[in-house]
Amino acid sequence: MYSLIDGKRISQEIKDELKDKVSQLKQQGIEGCLAVIQVGADPASSVYVRNKKRACEYIGIASLSYELDQNTTEEELLELIYKLNADDKVNGILVQLPVPEHIDENKIIQAISPAKDVDGFHPQNVGALVSGLPGYISCTPAGIIQLFKRSGIEIAGRRCVVVGRSNIVGKPMALLMLRENATVTIAHSKTENLKEICKNADLLIVAVGRPKMIDASYIKEGAVVIDVGIHRNEDNKLCGDVDFDSAAEHTAAITPVPGGVGPMTIAMLMHNCVEAMTK
Ligand code: GUN
Repeated sequence: MYSLIDGKRISQEIKDELKDKVSQLKQQGIEGCLAVIQVGADPASSVYVRNKKRACEYIGIASLSYELDQNTTEEELLELIYKLNADDKVNGILVQLPVPEHIDENKIIQAISPAKDVDGFHPQNVGALVSGLPGYISCTPAGIIQLFKRSGIEIAGRRCVVVGRSNIVGKPMALLMLRENATVTIAHSKTENLKEICKNADLLIVAVGRPKMIDASYIKEGAVVIDVGIHRNEDNKLCGDVDFDSAAEHTAAITPVPGGVGPMTIAMLMHNCVEAMTK
């Protein structure tokens, strides 16, 4: 029998801890404020942004909302970021990705002050993670570490395979697992013998972005499987990168989609926002 790793419950636990912390900081006169910028009206982005603002309200920090037109220029967006960088009342700045194609995403990420970069995307924060220095850590991989720790799943010494190498998930995930003393392999869409490599994993973290790609044939009996993917299938139902119905019974523990990794990203964003209040 496998167990379900309940991201909904664990993220709620984290948000409740943060709510207490924010209320203590308020008593010391310290207030939090996250600026959330969305360019264009991509429906999925709008849902994420709404959930982020709701989480701010829940833990007791303010959020400023900037819903910019799809045709906003790079210069206009950069101007807004510079203004927010200089605003002492704002301690976190988040630009929802993706931005429209005419805007250079890397330029935007690098314009945000590293001290306010609660997404952990700025090269200075990424570099700090690589070197083991303090800094903001990308929220989805940080949330996955919390899923392991708060479910009592051992990381140290175990073989971890991360499938996916994005800047937001795969790369920081591998670094965090290494920091926790796992033996880490990064695999990706061009990896040869992907199945055999995945079958070696005690801890398999899948962020490939392909619906239901990882079925039972990729999974070692008794492995722990973390599914970062989120897609809508033909019936408009949510599914992950892992074929849950095929894989689950072969695992010791697995995250569901929805209700696994997704809610953890927002909880860890709130964690970073609270950290930003005391910087
Ligand atoms: N788009 C998809 N995931 C994220 C995230 O974690 N942060 C931001 N800013 N944009 C995203």
